[in-house]
Amino acid sequence: MKKPASSVGIIGAGTMGLGIAQVVALAGYQTVLYDVNTEVLEQAVEKLFSTVSRAVERRKLPAGSLEKLNRTLQTTTNIYELGENLDLVIEAVPEDMELKRSLFQKLDEVCPAETILASNTSSLSITALGGVTHRPQTVAGLHFFNPAPLMKLVEVVRGKETSEETIERLRAFAESLGKTSVVAKDTPGFIVNRVARSFYTEAIRLLEEGVADVGTIDRIMRDEGGFAMGPFELMDLIGIDVNYAVSQSVYNAFFQESRFKPHPLQRQMVEAGYLGRKSGKGFYTYEQ
Ligand SMILES: NC(=O)c1ccc[n+]([C@@H]2O[C@H](COP(=O)([O-])OP(=O)(O)OC[C@H]3O[C@@H](n4cnc5c(N)ncnc54)[C@H](O)[C@@H]3O)[C@@H](O)[C@H]2O)c1
Repeated sequence: MKKPASSVGIIGAGTMGLGIAQVVALAGYQTVLYDVNTEVLEQAVEKLFSTVSRAVERRKLPAGSLEKLNRTLQTTTNIYELGENLDLVIEAVPEDMELKRSLFQKLDEVCPAETILASNTSSLSITALGGVTHRPQTVAGLHFFNPAPLMKLVEVVRGKETSEETIERLRAFAESLGKTSVVAKDTPGFIVNRVARSFYTEAIRLLEEGVADVGTIDRIMRDEGGFAMGPFELMDLIGIDVNYAVSQSVYNAFFQESRFKPHPLQRQMVEAGYLGRKSGKGFYTYEQ
């Protein structure tokens, strides 16, 4: 991929889309961030500029980052404005197969056949997304982790028909962002989210059995177990709704294998609006 002349579209200005937009735009790619919701998009961009401004003040990002963002980042709520010049689109809308499939159908219509259509899905089938397009060879997974600006790993997921060239272009793109890439087969949850399922659900089971409280389990896993975050603080960061959607998706994709079974507490929390940091309450409470 040529850099920085090439441009990238990002679909969805939520937790992941915004983090990915920050990384991509600051790496010098012309970046177009698209969301269906005007208010969400406006607030997201405001948040992005204030995050970058704070990072510059704390010398975590170089001086000039805000100006760079101003030069490279555009936004739109019109999918047709994504333009014909994008060589990569990264989709980061909610973890819902029907939503993603209808979006990929639309992107297939809007973007030239050479444009790579990548999904940031945590668990859904890339082959199924490629199947609704006329160019499954340029459809792949490009799975960033939360928070995208900090987490080094990107999983590049090969669907049944994804071409080798698409995989290589995505690996080169990920490396150009300073990330480490790993290629994974198209399987529910890929590598990290498959292993991580029981990190979350076993922690909830321990909690519900009264073995230890939230703070203790997090502290033990983080401070003594060497994990960057404990399971409950990580679920709050990810979003209880997002994590629950991934749990359900992996469970169903494995034909309800009991080892992947979600916990009823996850559904209860989602139904009650306990979504984690983004709603101000989850396993912990947060100042909004
Ligand atoms: N949250 C995480 O920790 C995390 C980590 C890795 C991957 N993921 C994956 O990334 C994807 C997005 O997750 P998220 O946490 O950013 O979700 P989110 O709910 O924070 O954001 C989703 C965004 O998509 C927008 N949207 C909804 N429908 C749309 C459409 N049709 N077109 C354009 N925009 C639309 C919403 O307005 C919202 O801004 C999911 O597939 C999720 O599994 C999430």
